[in-house]
Amino acid sequence: MKSFSLALVATQILSALGAKVEVQSSGGNATSGRQYGFLHEDINHSGDGGIYAELIRNRAFQYNEHYPLTLDGWFPVNGASLELRELDEPLSDVLPVSMKVSKGKNYRHGKIGFRNDGYWGMDVKKQKYKGSFWVKGDYKGNFEASLQSNNTNDVFGAVKVKSNARKDEWVEHKFELTPWENAPTSNNTFVLQFDPKGVKGDLDFNLISLFPPTFKDRENGLRKDIAESLYELHPSILRIPGGNMLEGLDNKTWWDWKDTLYPLRYRKGFPGVWGYQQTYGLGMMEYLWWAEDMDLELVVGVYAGLSMDGSITPEDELQQFIDDALDQIEFLKGGVDTKWGARRAELGHPEPVDLHFVEIGNEDWYAGGQAGWDSYKEYRLPRFIEAISAAWPELTIIASGTHTDRDGIDLPEGIYGDYHPYKMPDVLVEEFDRFDNDGPHIVGEVAATHVNGGIGWEGSLYYFPWWIGTVGEAVSMIGYERNADRVFATFYAPILRNMNFWNWSVTLVQFDAWTVTRSTSWYLWELFAFHPMSHTLPATEDFGPVYYVAGKNEDQGSFIWKGACYNTTNGADQPVSVKFDGVQEGTKASLTMLTNSVSDPMRWNDPYNHTNIVDRSTVVLSANKDGAFEFEMPELSIAVLDTDYKKEACRNKKAKQKRRSVEQPFAA
Ligand code: AHR
Repeated sequence: MKSFSLALVATQILSALGAKVEVQSSGGNATSGRQYGFLHEDINHSGDGGIYAELIRNRAFQYNEHYPLTLDGWFPVNGASLELRELDEPLSDVLPVSMKVSKGKNYRHGKIGFRNDGYWGMDVKKQKYKGSFWVKGDYKGNFEASLQSNNTNDVFGAVKVKSNARKDEWVEHKFELTPWENAPTSNNTFVLQFDPKGVKGDLDFNLISLFPPTFKDRENGLRKDIAESLYELHPSILRIPGGNMLEGLDNKTWWDWKDTLYPLRYRKGFPGVWGYQQTYGLGMMEYLWWAEDMDLELVVGVYAGLSMDGSITPEDELQQFIDDALDQIEFLKGGVDTKWGARRAELGHPEPVDLHFVEIGNEDWYAGGQAGWDSYKEYRLPRFIEAISAAWPELTIIASGTHTDRDGIDLPEGIYGDYHPYKMPDVLVEEFDRFDNDGPHIVGEVAATHVNGGIGWEGSLYYFPWWIGTVGEAVSMIGYERNADRVFATFYAPILRNMNFWNWSVTLVQFDAWTVTRSTSWYLWELFAFHPMSHTLPATEDFGPVYYVAGKNEDQGSFIWKGACYNTTNGADQPVSVKFDGVQEGTKASLTMLTNSVSDPMRWNDPYNHTNIVDRSTVVLSANKDGAFEFEMPELSIAVLDTDYKKEACRNKKAKQKRRSVEQPFAA
């Protein structure tokens, strides 16, 4: 492992205020080329009702021992009666309950049917929606699918679907629906109707689905505006599938990737750990396509025998989960001549996934208390390491904790740790040097979550990412990037929140059926990821109130400096001078600065009124006669200086950096 060599560090030039930074032209640490990413799990309805684009809530009446069967989301139309029932011939073994639709006691005349009001509304626009539903029963005539207002009589679009329904068989009906006008609000519903005169006997419905156009037009894909808000962060790595979601509520209901590989008709759903039933619509393949469509490396978490109820798998029962993890890795990495590689090929992905990183469990120091952590250290982690490294020696294995969790863990040689700082901004700043003398890690989850001066984790999360929290995150991210040889990737978590459902307030992006709001931290993560370094460079070490990292992007041939200004004396602006060794007078660099336009460190980007308090400005600087770039940083500001000075102008042209391709995470 490389580290900053004191011999190579330029002479410290201390200034009473600000920072005078001299940057060497060689040395430093290679980065992984995949520094910034995020964790996704279904929390805050960020999956179902979020980035998973399905518009229909409770589309297949899924339930289990944790969540009851319900008609949530469904309402009768024109005096219909809706009844959930289990038929002798269900749609599938895993979707046993369907909805019988018949004339109710208030029925007078005309078509009957049902409506669904989606995940707290539906965005209806002049675009092509793809729908489908399954029916069992004898019906001659047409169905009519439409998108309608929920509070006026407006119909924005409708289509007739000829019935192929049969008495003894489930028949799928597919349709496309293009509204003729945009709805003025998101308070809309999907309606399906039919003429009861054409029905002989009963008519049952199941798996009623409606998708708007998706990100990169994937079937069963991602909601476009939300996915774009993540893609535009220029991420390079995605950690899945949690988080607590991986662990499940108990060790019979962990997030079982195998159950997600089927057509939707055969996906039984998942008892989510965040208080709601999940569809399993966003499954292993969907995560794979997500990663491919955004050009993301994956960190895949495998279930390690500990669940949220604290149930710990005893050693003599662990093998089933180890086998399952090996199957999962084979599913991703195996050739088409392997059992699970062949399954992946069947699902449309013959090429093996270029997977380098597997994480064993999630926060194994948490759910089962000390006993869970002890079992992890004593046998769960070692048994997984033994089996995975024997089968896939080229994989990097990540343990789900670090030496600062509980009584710590001695990570075996070559095994990475995972650190999850959800902290006050002051603490993130105090931890600037957290990785200066530590082994290899990911920072698998990080966010400023609690206000300074409070009681930290025992207190409430703040409302949204807020300005001083964002600057605190910037300082910690700079600390991680300085140690890029030990912290190969940093993940924001959790990333998404549906504003109609609360599990966790501080998220990178908030949304509802209609809008998407990018938080203050979104602007930070975007800026840092937009200027990737291939390696850091040794520089003057004089940190606080300006914290910084300097480096180079070999592909672009550019020098980069990232800085954040936190806790100045009396709020004074800080003069900063950055001199890259070898840079001549007149060399140009863009300086992009993020500041708080309302001068209030506690304010956030408001998802209710969509105000953005982040000011982003770019100026082009010229190096002075000493080859130094000089500028000032206000209190609580974030900046990136880049000698590839034209790059910032291309920000909106989706100038995504080509990632370095690295076989191993780090050169030794
Ligand atoms: O990100 C939210 C939760 O925080 C994750 O599920 C868990 O890993 C952590 O405790």
